[in-house]
Amino acid sequence: MLDTVPNRPDLPAEIARRRTFAIISHPDAGKTTLTEKFLLYGGAIQMAGQVRAKGEARRTRSDFMQMEKDRGISVSASAMSFDYANYRFNLVDTPGHSDFSEDTYRTLTAVDAAVMVIDGAKGVESQTQKLFEVCRLRDLPILTFCNKMDRESRDTFEIIDEIQQNLAIDVTPASWPIGVGRDFIGCYDMLRDRLELMDRADRNKIAESIEINGLDDPQLAEHVPEHLLEKLLEEVEMARELLPTLDPQSVLEGHMTPIWFGSAINSFGVKELMDGISTYGPEPQPQNAQPREIAPDETKVAGFVFKVQANMDPKHRDRVAFVRLASGHFKRGMKLTHVRSKKPMAISNPVLFLASDRELAEEAWAGDIIGIPNHGQLRIGDTLTEGEALRVSGIPSFAPELLQGVRAGDPMKAKHLEKALMQFAEEGAAKVFKPSIGSGFIVGVVGQLQFEVLASRIEMEYGLPVRFEASQFTSARWVNGDKLALDKFINTNKQHIAYDNDGDVVYLTRLQWDIDRVERDYPDLKLTATKEMM
Ligand code: G4P
Repeated sequence: MLDTVPNRPDLPAEIARRRTFAIISHPDAGKTTLTEKFLLYGGAIQMAGQVRAKGEARRTRSDFMQMEKDRGISVSASAMSFDYANYRFNLVDTPGHSDFSEDTYRTLTAVDAAVMVIDGAKGVESQTQKLFEVCRLRDLPILTFCNKMDRESRDTFEIIDEIQQNLAIDVTPASWPIGVGRDFIGCYDMLRDRLELMDRADRNKIAESIEINGLDDPQLAEHVPEHLLEKLLEEVEMARELLPTLDPQSVLEGHMTPIWFGSAINSFGVKELMDGISTYGPEPQPQNAQPREIAPDETKVAGFVFKVQANMDPKHRDRVAFVRLASGHFKRGMKLTHVRSKKPMAISNPVLFLASDRELAEEAWAGDIIGIPNHGQLRIGDTLTEGEALRVSGIPSFAPELLQGVRAGDPMKAKHLEKALMQFAEEGAAKVFKPSIGSGFIVGVVGQLQFEVLASRIEMEYGLPVRFEASQFTSARWVNGDKLALDKFINTNKQHIAYDNDGDVVYLTRLQWDIDRVERDYPDLKLTATKEMM
């Protein structure tokens, strides 16, 4: 276990010891298993296996989760905090299903690093690649865990090469696997010259760690069978010759990823990865904002909402806004300014997501995620400060890829439907557009499954059966520009115009050709497929 002082002595120690990160992976690579083991070593749970059980208990509180359970996918992101050695880890969970990529994207704005989990037999899969690209947009440092080494996996060089080629990032081995599949016995720790041996008999046992004095150490032969030793020595020598050595700065800049090999289910390699996150992962980073950047060590508190989750507890019609603290030392009861409305908000019952359970947060520091229960005042993209008019930037909203009309089963309940839709729009669960002509709403999502989730949530949370139906439109673009040009555009294209829940103008169409035409005919206007949530 690492007992070193965190790497930034100039930061307040409480901030310097924080590591806020997400796990990115393709479904089935082992994210849940790895999370369980993190928590196990974080001392948050006694036995691995409880995350799933806890997850389910938490889920039953939220009605729409029945569907999630049936389909075996995770549609909601949450945050977990736990301590490891001298460090405080904040793990923000990303939903794995590709239909919820926008949610995932926003989650990644709240972290300072990502752990990329790949399956040793499958290598870089499609969802990993997509998520990686999102991380790259923000130059997030990435630490890689190659999982399932206890199964038949690909050749180590091949895996490393694939990551380098597909993701265009330098890869440096932090550990080197010894044997593969049934023969896998552990790893050689390339950074600390140690031998880590896996215990297949006890899946929760921490690996035996033996200090080795270089590759010539006769101890190696005592622990590694001959047929594996020869290959290990040859490969490590080749790796040291051919692959880059670890450059911490390059890792922090997102140009290099260290890779650990292991088997999450056997708890193997997980501690080494956690030590790696502690040592090479970044402390809380400055946050882009307008009109100025926010530094984590500013004494005043600032934070932003990256996720809103409604009805986590059906007894209360509350929503919880997940806030990433960008600076300062937060204490319970603080009055913060809600910058968008300029109104003060007393934060009297903030929640910390300690892995064991939700807990009232007495204090939190830059880097932490707190949950703020509220009645709808807090929206994604909102900034909270101690008074300064700062607005965190870079939290996007994407144009939906699927559009459908929606109708209440009972036409007398149109008002209720509007209320429900507005809630989901503010939560970021869907885009809701009100066409300028006619009644009703058009709902936009990224994946088909979201319509089903919405329909089931509206029915359960508002007691309102709804029908989604085909819409004449397939694309939406936000329209910005000079007021005169915009008014003229609206007047001549009424049947294509709608307004989103913030009142911003949206152009709806079914043809890319239309979009091209508008861009040609209205050079003063800008059509965009993303909008910043501010
Ligand atoms: P995910 O969250 O990324 O989707 O993956 P999850 O952890 O649920 O793991 C997917 C499957 O892979 C699970 O098996 C899990 O037990 C298995 N797994 C995870 N890590 C390892 C590993 O290191 N080695 C091996 N051999 N398997 C691993 P499952 O059969 O789908 O579920 P379960 O019945 O075991 O829970």
